[in-house]
Amino acid sequence: MTALAASGGVMRDLKVPNIVGRGAVPVIAIPTTAGTGSEVTRVTVITDAATDEKMLCMGPGLMPAAAIVDFELTISLPPRATADTGIDALTHAIEAYVSRKANAFSDQQALGAMRLIAPNLRTAYHEPDNRAAREAMMAGATLAGMAFSNASVALVHGMSRPIGAFFHVPHGLSNAMLLPAVTRWSIPAARERYAECARTMGVAAAGLDDASACSRLIHELEALNGELSVPTLREFGVEQARYESVIGTMAEQAESSGSPGNNPRIPTRDEMAALYREVWI
Ligand SMILES: [Fe+2]
Repeated sequence: MTALAASGGVMRDLKVPNIVGRGAVPVIAIPTTAGTGSEVTRVTVITDAATDEKMLCMGPGLMPAAAIVDFELTISLPPRATADTGIDALTHAIEAYVSRKANAFSDQQALGAMRLIAPNLRTAYHEPDNRAAREAMMAGATLAGMAFSNASVALVHGMSRPIGAFFHVPHGLSNAMLLPAVTRWSIPAARERYAECARTMGVAAAGLDDASACSRLIHELEALNGELSVPTLREFGVEQARYESVIGTMAEQAESSGSPGNNPRIPTRDEMAALYREVWI
């Protein structure tokens, strides 16, 4: 709203590669989930109702002037939303760390976020009133937001937005559906980085070799989806024929968002289409 008020026109004019330079009024952001990190990013995502596209909008004009980050606002968040938003935050941290735009500054934020989120996500899901877990998740999600604002997200987010837009799958859930497969596909291009994610998340011992640590990471991401009851696309109610029919469009939209270009292994549209087919279960 602040961006549109400053520029006029319609939201579609503001999507990437456009840069939103300024907003009309300062925004104070108060997150009520431990997830998007929107309160500390220059990114917003708005669905174009005419085309079902989840438009990525970026620029300093979308950066809140202040954030009030209070984990108590998440205590009443239901388990499903806790899981979906929490996996989103974990995905931000992992993608920021393996991003081609990662740097020494964003690395610390991404690793710090993983350290907070990984051991607390299951607890926050199973025990909504667990204040220590809620606090760690909130701090982790905000840190992860800072990490990806400085390093960008990558292929999971690029492919996730079209699934969300076409099939109304919540953002964190479509990330979760993609995360194990996209991570497995991307590992060969950044084995050391993914191995460090596994160690930082506490699922691989410090001395474990990179290949074994990467296997542990995939295992953990799959186990997490199981424990947090992440449905498959089919279980969510996505119809297979319709899904098949939009795979080409989804790959095109994913590519044009620019996020896949930040991935350690950059996919062609055909490779994205193959990944979309792989996660159909
Ligand atoms: Fe996200």
